[in-house]
Amino acid sequence: MDKENLNLRETLEFYIAAGVDETCGDGVLTLSDRDKILPQTKENISGTAARPATSALALSSAAAVKNADDICRGVGSIDELRQIVENFDGCSLKYNAKHTVIGDGNPAADVMFIGEAPGAEEDMVGKAFVGRSGQLLDKMLAAVGLDRSQCYICNILPWRPPGNRSPSDAEIAVCLPFLKKQIELVKPEYIFLLGAVAANSLLGCSEGISHLRGRWMEYEATDGRKIKVLAGYHPAYLLRTPAQKAKAWADFLRLKKKLNENN
Ligand code: URA
Repeated sequence: MDKENLNLRETLEFYIAAGVDETCGDGVLTLSDRDKILPQTKENISGTAARPATSALALSSAAAVKNADDICRGVGSIDELRQIVENFDGCSLKYNAKHTVIGDGNPAADVMFIGEAPGAEEDMVGKAFVGRSGQLLDKMLAAVGLDRSQCYICNILPWRPPGNRSPSDAEIAVCLPFLKKQIELVKPEYIFLLGAVAANSLLGCSEGISHLRGRWMEYEATDGRKIKVLAGYHPAYLLRTPAQKAKAWADFLRLKKKLNENN
């Protein structure tokens, strides 16, 4: 195979290893992007190209999680965290995303809503929950007397998985320190987990959302604070399954009751 075709093939293999399963927009990743993403393993430093699939796995390794943990340590504000996450190179999802999407709303709020990952609109705009799910979330908030100035809204992942595929366990593990840091900085009294991915990732369990929803649980933040947690259906699920809206309404009323008790 001549050099040009070999490079094209390597680039394609790189896209596949990075989880790309659709094309969108005009931007392209180039071989030099690929080389920036590949970790500096002994092999590629010594001149032997690392295989893309191996590299993608390496990016999601314990070392990447530790790196994410380490760089979060001294962070003192959401703005500082945003910069840190934008500069973080340990998760290949970043290279397929247009924007790094950190939280939206009020970083001093008592209540924090956590979803799964940015979708296409969120990736385009760079803001959490602005698409159809976000519009439904805004309506649900309004129904219990809340708006975005009274809560903080974010996701388990700051980057959109290509084609809205489900995030892998490794991608969640690498991104979780960023979410945990947001929780530590916002210091919410209450967390509402939107959907199973958010609930399972933060609570470290694998129960279905139908079992988790409807009861108060507890999450211990990285600074030791105990935070009351409620899980509920994700707005995207409610758009597909409107018959479950009554249960979602009941969960939002549970939250409203707690907020009222505190005021
Ligand atoms: N779904 C999510 O989980 N988060 C968003 O920001 C948008 C859609």
